[in-house]
Amino acid sequence: MPANRSLLVLPGDGIGPEVMGEVRRVIDWMDRRRAVTFDVGEGLVGGAAIDAEGAPLADATMDRAMNADAVLLGAVGGPKWDSLPFAQKPERGLLRLRKEMQLYANLRPAICFEALVDASTLKPEVVSGLDILIVRELTGGVYFGEPRGIETLPDGTRRGVNTQVYTSPEIRRVAAVAFELARKRGNKVCSSEKANVMESGVLWREEVAKLHEESYSDVELTHMYADNCAMQLVRWPKQFDVIVTDNLFGDMLSDEAAMLTGSLGMLPSASLGDIDETGRRKALYEPVHGSAPDIAGEGKANPIATLLSFAMALRYSFDLAEDADLIESAVTKVLGSGIRTADIAAPGATTVSTEAMGEALIRELDEQAA
Ligand code: IPM
Ligand code: MG
Repeated sequence: MPANRSLLVLPGDGIGPEVMGEVRRVIDWMDRRRAVTFDVGEGLVGGAAIDAEGAPLADATMDRAMNADAVLLGAVGGPKWDSLPFAQKPERGLLRLRKEMQLYANLRPAICFEALVDASTLKPEVVSGLDILIVRELTGGVYFGEPRGIETLPDGTRRGVNTQVYTSPEIRRVAAVAFELARKRGNKVCSSEKANVMESGVLWREEVAKLHEESYSDVELTHMYADNCAMQLVRWPKQFDVIVTDNLFGDMLSDEAAMLTGSLGMLPSASLGDIDETGRRKALYEPVHGSAPDIAGEGKANPIATLLSFAMALRYSFDLAEDADLIESAVTKVLGSGIRTADIAAPGATTVSTEAMGEALIRELDEQAA
């Protein structure tokens, strides 16, 4: 029995530790009931790391992340650290992980669970059955482009600069991931940029089209300006299968897509790098939601997005699709039985705590595995 699957857990800030606590219970359950053993290590990231270790991600934690088979992260950030200089903010910990592990492909599925159709602010017929995947470029673009900074000009005017920059290999490798994934789903890719105003967008469109022609002509490819894409996502989201886009547009479009499904508290993500010489793909899994400081510590947070992120780890890093299915079907069942944390409850409905949601999930797993 392979016991050498190493998982580094970084709960982070705000609701991160609470939701991760419930996921740890599921990991223990897998160990007991499925004989799927993980070598789980835990570390600090974000504000928690700033407070205890003086930096949003200690070098030692970075090393552990590089050597783990997968990293599972909760959330980073909070008002306590908002006034820190930019380079020391909690978010830098997450960005360092993404950049140094070279996790260029960020997979953000937006799936509408049937039991939650009414939790969406959109009409049921618009979101029912929705299953789209946003592939966001994660290590380039304006997030990392140079030059960047805030400077004061001789006349005292201040000037803020960021650079949107992409090279052809950066575009091609993330587009390839999108095409590959589309082949296993609805076989459609929509590539989104602003080629009407940005040179980096023109290059994006050309490179995606070239790669498509060379290697993926069996996949249906369309191009859409990012503003139109944002509009189409709320107008008729089911027109999409896979959307591939840059770092900044992907940040925004994935929040929008998440909300179509009713709650940010439901959506997982995977960030993947290239497969290395040993056949291992560096990977980090995290919920799409943030640290939600407004409800942190109150036991109100929904642990499902983090649990589904762990399920993605089972699928993409550990080749345990069956166990991932089990978790996903437990989530569907629990939602179907009407159990809700506050974020996914109808107004006035009874809600359960983070812990009670975790318990319900374990009960359902027990039943399914019986
Ligand atoms: C996300 C978040 C991050 C981002 C922040 C926390 C740096 O919004 O993962 O979508 O902008 O990428
Ligand atoms: Mg975001």
